[in-house]
Amino acid sequence: MNIILLGPPGAGKGTQAKILVDERGMTQLSTGDMLREAKTSGSEMGNRAAEVMNRGELVSDDIVVGLIEEKLAAPHGAGFIFDGFPRTLAQADALGDLLARHGETLDAVVEMRVDDAALTRRITGRFTCANCGAVYHDETKPTAKAGVCDVCGGTTFTRRADDNEDALRQRLMEYYKKTSPLIGYYHAKGALRVVDGLAPIDAVAGAIRKVLDNS
Ligand code: AP5
Repeated sequence: MNIILLGPPGAGKGTQAKILVDERGMTQLSTGDMLREAKTSGSEMGNRAAEVMNRGELVSDDIVVGLIEEKLAAPHGAGFIFDGFPRTLAQADALGDLLARHGETLDAVVEMRVDDAALTRRITGRFTCANCGAVYHDETKPTAKAGVCDVCGGTTFTRRADDNEDALRQRLMEYYKKTSPLIGYYHAKGALRVVDGLAPIDAVAGAIRKVLDNS
């Protein structure tokens, strides 16, 4: 089963993708994570992409489609979760072509609906374990013991360079202008399923579970 998690920055796509990986052995393909890894590796593409990301703008379609193409060809688990991809109509068309070429289908597009005020609170409160990448939130998902990662025991945490109000304003603008047309695109294909992304993390996971079990 292959699915897309579609939603604005902070909708909870990464959080829910990790739950699906644990529960169903699916493979998460996050273009945001791939671009941040390219930056950490010091590649020229990674450094150029980081400048664009820090401004809250979208990286070019060619680069992200290329990243996804490489992953589709590699060994993978029980289906793909596309997290943060596609983000433009051109990327959606490219994904359709790539899946067809690999003999794969798209089984559901889960739109996670969250309002802008909640997104701002989520983004400005997010922090990540520098060692294992586990994602937390100052208010809604703090570590069980202050300053210690629940997953790996790490004690160093980071905040993303684009998780500030200025960059978020631009990220939201990009979402509404370039990504939200995908809602109509996938609705027309009969693939769109909507969940309430404002609900608590476990409730959203339950709603997604239901969607996947009925797709
Ligand atoms: P990317 O890394 O994809 O960021 P994003 O789409 O802005 O999404 P986020 O990772 O910020 O949020 P999320 O929905 O995963 O939320 P999370 O689960 O972490 O992209 C970054 C940049 O890379 C882009 O701006 C662009 O420049 C570039 N890029 C990436 N893909 C691209 C593409 N395809 N094309 C072009 N450019 C691309 O949750 C957020 C917080 O909320 C966490 O603290 C979490 O604990 C908390 N939380 C989650 N769910 C809940 C809940 N239900 N209730 C309360 N709190 C919750």
